[in-house]
Amino acid sequence: MAAMDNLTPHKFQVTRAQREALNNHKGLVIWFSGLSGSGKSTIASALEQQLHLQQMHTYSLDGDNIRLGINRDLGFSTEDRTENLRRIAEIAKLFADAGIVVLASFITPTEENRNQINSIIPAEDIVHIFVNCPLEVCEKRDVKGLYAKARKGEIKNFTGIDAPFEAHQKPDITLHSHLFSVQQCVQQTLDYLHSTHKIRKS
Ligand code: ADX
Repeated sequence: MAAMDNLTPHKFQVTRAQREALNNHKGLVIWFSGLSGSGKSTIASALEQQLHLQQMHTYSLDGDNIRLGINRDLGFSTEDRTENLRRIAEIAKLFADAGIVVLASFITPTEENRNQINSIIPAEDIVHIFVNCPLEVCEKRDVKGLYAKARKGEIKNFTGIDAPFEAHQKPDITLHSHLFSVQQCVQQTLDYLHSTHKIRKS
């Protein structure tokens, strides 16, 4: 018998709807996928600033922070990335249930990873954003100097170099961060969130 067989979720008296009513907006997960250096965290941070100004309760999760904390036991093998993203999806789901707009910025390299996230977070609670920036541009930016190390073989399994990155097949929005400014990408996202009522005062 699995340990999970003996668990019964408790129904707490304060509901998600009540938390959202207090916050004056719905909980939501905004998930950014894309290569390292594509601009995920930069765009997420600028978007969060705008949402915060619009009185939204927000929180940002990103690869470097999470991997220094709760996921410090995980590396970059296929299995570890799967577990990394599974845990993050579960955490993001809790944030949405708390009535928070959570911005999650992770490479999320494969369609299988994205499907796993969708099996954890209900469709109405998540918006997928593909930050689609060519590898050459990310590598040229090389903000953290990691592409250079990966090319020299000093980092193994680096996404885009010797580990796969699959283009997102069905994102809600695609942002071309090499063609548009951060503010334009933020505006494109805000327009989508408002026009689809993904974000609204409740
Ligand atoms: S994911 O593939 O599991 O989604 P995640 O977004 O958490 O990756 O972490 C990516 C960040 O870890 C990168 O932005 C980079 O700073 C750092 N990193 C270190 N080693 C690697 C690697 N081998 N491949 C990709 N990113 C790496």
